[in-house]
This record gives sequence, structure tokens and C-alpha cells, in this order.
Amino acid sequence: MSTVLPGQPMRVLSGMRPTGRLHLGHYHGVLKNWLKLQTEYECYFFVADWHALTTHYEDTRVIEESVWDMVVDWLAVGIDPNSATLFIQSRVPQHAELHVLLSMITPVSWLERVPTYKDQQIQLQERDLSTYGFLGYPLLQSADILSYRAGLVPVGEDQVAHVELTREVARRFNHLYGREPDYEIRAEEAIKKMGKKNAKLYRELRTAYMERGDREALETARALLERQKNIALGDKDRLFGFLEGGGKIILPEPQALLTQASKMPGLDGRKMSKSYDNVISLRESTDEVAKKLRTMPTDPARVHRSDPGNPDKCPVWDFHVVYSDAERKDWVQKGCRSAGIGCLECKQPIIDTVLAELKPIQERAAEFLRDPLTIKNVIADGTKRAQEAAEATLTDVRAAMGLGYS
Ligand code: TRP
Ligand code: SF4
Repeated sequence: MSTVLPGQPMRVLSGMRPTGRLHLGHYHGVLKNWLKLQTEYECYFFVADWHALTTHYEDTRVIEESVWDMVVDWLAVGIDPNSATLFIQSRVPQHAELHVLLSMITPVSWLERVPTYKDQQIQLQERDLSTYGFLGYPLLQSADILSYRAGLVPVGEDQVAHVELTREVARRFNHLYGREPDYEIRAEEAIKKMGKKNAKLYRELRTAYMERGDREALETARALLERQKNIALGDKDRLFGFLEGGGKIILPEPQALLTQASKMPGLDGRKMSKSYDNVISLRESTDEVAKKLRTMPTDPARVHRSDPGNPDKCPVWDFHVVYSDAERKDWVQKGCRSAGIGCLECKQPIIDTVLAELKPIQERAAEFLRDPLTIKNVIADGTKRAQEAAEATLTDVRAAMGLGYS
């Protein structure tokens, strides 16, 4: 979609639940993507500790233990606090306030039909998830996103429905509260602030869209608004809404930025995931990494060294797909099928590559662990910035909902 979004199109927001150690699956599936995004956008990355509580309210210890480790691992892989704002969700109470305000206008049925609601209850049978907090999980996520008026939300496939819900809630909010009583007058005044030439162009484009449904005119008008430097954000929101005959857009609709599903295989051939107990964590010791890889299963047909094998039936091959160049892949294919190489021989370059990948990460993690004050400062600083950004949104939200009395 090429639509220019009102609000903060260049702002990215994403969170991660602190429910255990980060592993190679997180690194290849999520963090490498964050590393790229932080150079391109204004990024907000946070530890979603409240979200972790929705499923782990009975054993909060793992959350407590994971929060700071998560921040250390983010920094260790290269997330840069000078470029991205890093914070902990529960330190920014504006998320909770927006959650409660949005809960007033969100039909229960919208939450019940989010696919993860039923799926997770089935998958996590051992936990009692018939709670109010768990039903509200995606709405809390909406509050996370909308608190920053984020334009882009990098998520995996399973979370797209949550961004979709966010869009619906934002739309409903704007519909209910975006219509100020003197709306038309304010819009007219805002148009004048653009200067004669731009004001004329805006009016023409708006007419073209409103009277003839000219989508191109709508796009052009949005781009025109994006470029305006001299009008306040409130006026800009008003004019975005006015273009389509609606009211002021207080909470812009975000877009999901679909993160390619992680190709990182686990030690057993399934996707790497803590719940399958098949992970290599980012802090795993050299010995432990070597041992886990040496003992991981291979093609069961290769009982003896002299038995030829088939890489397609071997989880080690999946690691070669991630880590090896064409030449080495060819060496595996030929060597395996002809029994020219043994399985340990085949695994050795993987062990070397994984260790080489983890080495600088672990060195940096060790540095940060020796200096906990730096970590606390990074979060204190990020939290302050996050609070300010969220408070700006909440000020508008409170006013729009009639809570602006002083
Ligand atoms: N629900 C997300 C997950 O499990 C984590 C999350 C919480 C999140 N709030 C968010 C992701 C806001 C993106 C935006 O992965
Ligand atoms: Fe798997 Fe390599 Fe052994 Fe073939 S040689 S079965 S690809 S570990």
C-alpha cells in the first residue's frame, strides 16, 4: 500500500515478551530485522512485561529474570540506544491508561474473534487463560501501538490479526471522538494556514475526491499535507480527516510490517522455540553449543558411517541452508549422498559458524553485565523519552473523550 499515513509514518514500534532467554531464533527472526529498522526509522522497542503477565501470572519469576537479560541481549546484538528508544512497558503507565480508555469502546466480540485467543488457550492447556487480562491481550497491544501513533509495526504472521484489531479500534475511536463541534470552522482555519497556493490546491483535491471519488487526488492531497511544515500536528490531523469528510484523526491506523518467518531451524528440525526445547540461546557456552550440535539428530537412515544419507531428511542440512555458502552446501549434498563425509564432519563447520556468530555477541553481553549501571541508564533514558511521546498522545485522547477538564 502506498498510502501516506497521517500521524507518524516513520515511527516503528515493537515489543518482545520477557518469558525466557533469547535464542538464535529470535536473533535471525526478529533482532536482525530490528537492526535494519533502527537505521531507517524512528524506532521504539520495548520489553512487554505486562503481556508476559497475561500468560505467566502464576510464575512471575521468569519475567523478572528475563527483563534485564533481554535488554542486555538487545544491546549485545547491536541495538543502538542512541538510535532506538528502549524501554520497559510497565514503566510507561500511559499504555495502561490508553488500554482502559480503549476498552470502553471495544466490543467484547472483537476480542473473542481474534484467532490467537482460542489458539493459545488450546496450545497452553496447562495454564488457565480464561482471564480478563488474556482476553484483552490484543487490545493492550493496540494501546502500545497507538500510544506512539506508530505507522509501522514489525510483527510475525501470528500477530497480524492484532495489528488489524488496532486499525479497527483506531477507526472506531476517530469516528466517535474525532468530530469536534466546531469541526468545519477549525478545518477552514487550518486550511488557511497552509498559504494561499497550497490552500487552493488542497480544496481542489478534496473536491475531486469528495465529489468524484478521485483516489489519486486523495493521495496527492495527503502527500501535500505531509509536506506542510508550518501547521501544527493537531491541524494536520484535522485536515487529514477533513479530506475524507470525516473528523479529526486522533489515532492513525498503523500498518503491519510482516517479518519474514524465521528460517532458523531448531535442533530437532522443527522451528527453534523454547516450547520445543530445541534452542541454542545467545548466552550458551562454547562447550554447550558444541555438545548440542554434535548430539543433534541426523538422517536416521545413516546408522553406519558407510550408509549414504539424504540431507532433505536431516535437520543439520537446515543449518547449512542458513549458514553455508554454495560451495559448502554442495560439499554436504555430495558427501552425504555418497557417504563420502561423516555426520560429525558435516556438523563441524556449523559448530564453527555458530560459535563465530555468538562470540562477539557474548563478548558485548559480558561487558554490559559487568556494567549494570549502563543498562539501567539506557532504560531510564528510553523510558523518559517513551513517556513523553505517549503522554503527547494521551493528552489528545483525554481531551477528545471529554476528560480534559482542569
Ligand atoms: N504480542 C507480541 C508478541 O508476542 C509482543 C508485543 C506486545 C508487541 N506489544 C506489542 C509487538 C506491540 C508489536 C507491537 O510477539
Ligand atoms: Fe545430515 Fe550431514 Fe549427516 Fe547428511 S552428512 S545425514 S546432512 S549430518
